Amino acid sequence: MVKTKKETVFPVQGPKGMHDILPADQPWWDRVNKIAFDLADYYNFLRIETPIIERAEIYEAGVGETSDIVEKQMFGLVKTGNDRYVLRPEATAAIARAYIEHGLQQLGQPLKLFWAGPLFRHEQPQAGRLRQFHQLDFEIISNDDDPVYDAQTALVGFRILEELKIKNVCVIINTIGCKNCRPAFRRELKEYFGEKKDELCADCVRRLAENPLRILDCKKEKEQELKQSAPIIIDHLCAPCHDHFKTVLEYLDELALPYELDHSLVRGLDYYTKTVFEFMSEGVSFALGGGGRYDYLIELLGGKQTPAVGCAMGVERIIEAMKLQGITISPRTKQRVFLAHIGDLAKRKSLSLVEQLREAHIGVYEALGKDSLKAQLRMADKLGAPLALIFGQKEAFEESVIVRNLKTGAQETIPLKKIGEVVKRKLK
Ligand code: HAM
Repeated sequence: MVKTKKETVFPVQGPKGMHDILPADQPWWDRVNKIAFDLADYYNFLRIETPIIERAEIYEAGVGETSDIVEKQMFGLVKTGNDRYVLRPEATAAIARAYIEHGLQQLGQPLKLFWAGPLFRHEQPQAGRLRQFHQLDFEIISNDDDPVYDAQTALVGFRILEELKIKNVCVIINTIGCKNCRPAFRRELKEYFGEKKDELCADCVRRLAENPLRILDCKKEKEQELKQSAPIIIDHLCAPCHDHFKTVLEYLDELALPYELDHSLVRGLDYYTKTVFEFMSEGVSFALGGGGRYDYLIELLGGKQTPAVGCAMGVERIIEAMKLQGITISPRTKQRVFLAHIGDLAKRKSLSLVEQLREAHIGVYEALGKDSLKAQLRMADKLGAPLALIFGQKEAFEESVIVRNLKTGAQETIPLKKIGEVVKRKLK
């Protein structure tokens, strides 16, 4: 516990549902990010970043006022004058806002955008559900709703998981129709669940009036049985939506992506039309990523009608899945030598010696704050350095250094000017 000047006592604890990413976690993050950034580059996605906060209206209009994200999970509302800002709960609406604001259609279409960063949702924290989490987000904005883009966004998400060696990844996929065919389906759902109103949970009773499709997304035990015999969208699709979905599946077949149809998948964001999908994996109870088509979002936010599709992968969930599945990652691979100094002059000159090694592209560990040679060599051993460069008073005067092989104990003294060449040879 810590006391403030005003004598208030508070625990030394980070915000609930948010994590520090400690040094031991970083290799996992580096690995996931490296694979995602490389794939984004390979598939020609251009990087975009947006501010951590956005106007609340972007989400109210874009994600939907009756969605859980807007209704219950908007985090940290700040008012400045008439402006209301929230910590961004998702990236797609912010990207659509930036697309309109900066006239990004000028970059040509299809425009493929890649976004990476933290998001905030005021959730009840539990496994795979955090209040601050990170996404890797891929969007394809185009002048038509070609199903090939739906397949390409699912492909990039799938490839990330595949390259990370996540086991038995499957794309769970559905279509939720369009403006033309969804209203009739919605009416039928309303009728079906309306007759079973007494069996619904309180949230679903509310959803029945506002957005009955969302009942299909309810995870509560009570609703599962009712959902089994609920009407399914496939029976209500208009001909263009039917063909669109059929072609998406044909493209997934062509790419040999494993997929499973799930008629109850609707996803929790109002902007979706037609294709929606999520990535699941063996033994993991939460989705590792999800996405879908959102042909009206840009128009809803004030732009021209511009079809688009995308997906976002959850970094914390991916790392959790890797750990659950026993996937290990190798630590830093680049070999580093250990520079040990003896005495004040050598310590001072070691500062520039590290710079000389950096210019020669040689990785180096040091412990310039430790004076004992024994303690420094113990540290070199712990770090697994193959070579120690021992730099004492005599060497500092003579502009030389002792290079010791820490495995065999063999050592030789070499002139400082040859250090780059000799160390590189020995590291081979
Ligand atoms: P979403 O399903 O809300 O979709 O989030 C995508 C992924 O982010 C989830 O599958 C999950 O891996 C991760 N995620 C979501 N919420 C949390 C949380 N509270 N804690 C940890 N991880 C979480 C979207 O956000 C859409 N914008 C995706 C999209 C992009 N659709 C089209 N383009």
